[in-house]
Amino acid sequence: MPANRHNGFTDLGIGVGLRVPHYSHILGRKPAVDWFEIISENFMIDAGRPLRTLDLILEQYAVVQHGVSMYLGSPRLNRDHLKRLKQLVRRTKTPFVSDHLCWGSVDGSYSHDLLPLPYTFAAARHVAARVREARDILEVPVIVENVSSYAEFHASEMSEWEFLAEVVERADCGMLLDVNNIYVSSRNHNFDPFDYLNGVPLERVGQVHIAGHTKFERYILDTHDHPVLPTVWRLYAHVVSRIGPVNTLLEWDARIPPFEEVHREALKARRFLRDLETQRSENRKSAQTVTA
Ligand SMILES: [Fe+2]
Repeated sequence: MPANRHNGFTDLGIGVGLRVPHYSHILGRKPAVDWFEIISENFMIDAGRPLRTLDLILEQYAVVQHGVSMYLGSPRLNRDHLKRLKQLVRRTKTPFVSDHLCWGSVDGSYSHDLLPLPYTFAAARHVAARVREARDILEVPVIVENVSSYAEFHASEMSEWEFLAEVVERADCGMLLDVNNIYVSSRNHNFDPFDYLNGVPLERVGQVHIAGHTKFERYILDTHDHPVLPTVWRLYAHVVSRIGPVNTLLEWDARIPPFEEVHREALKARRFLRDLETQRSENRKSAQTVTA
């Protein structure tokens, strides 16, 4: 598989989140899926059915690990957690590990939420150091995902996208850009999502998340229980028009429909990659016509 020439991350194609209701379909029918994303925490155990299922999946598919409890913005990393995470990294041979740009634990107490950080230079330095530490321990690239947020801090010194850029440049790491989260936050905090995309180093994107959300009267919630909305597809199209094909993953975590429906929704991403290829070949043709 070719490496993405922009960022060095291998382009695996269009992936789907591995979810329990789909296990028997996947193991029985062996659908042609480019890769699966797993939630690391669901498999950080010593033995048992989840690991046996994972091993069967690994026999046939590429698997990428996505975590929800490294809490890169918390005061310190949990070494026990990282030790168990590393065991799973060795099992899956994931090309990288992703987790969120958030905090969620203090002194051994865990909120189990992806809490937003204040966008300050001190917080960016703190998170970047934790990313480097995690990468050194895990011995695979660590890429950070932007979260959707519903609150802001008076202490913030910059926009969310400036903060994300500051973190990834300081940590010299990749980004998992969740374009649905960007859209949800843009509506909740009243900013232009394209300013966000134009304000981060897109050449550092190792993966993109797309997902559906729910609109309420006064806010939008990142529910992952709907097809992807046209506005979110427009953001995705903007990203691929800038950096080309990129690892793309559809998240569908609640009210999960049959596997084929989820996979069909994910494969809509190929339409934008085809449009991009058509546009590029037309540009090449017109450039040749001009020079002929
Ligand atoms: Fe996400």
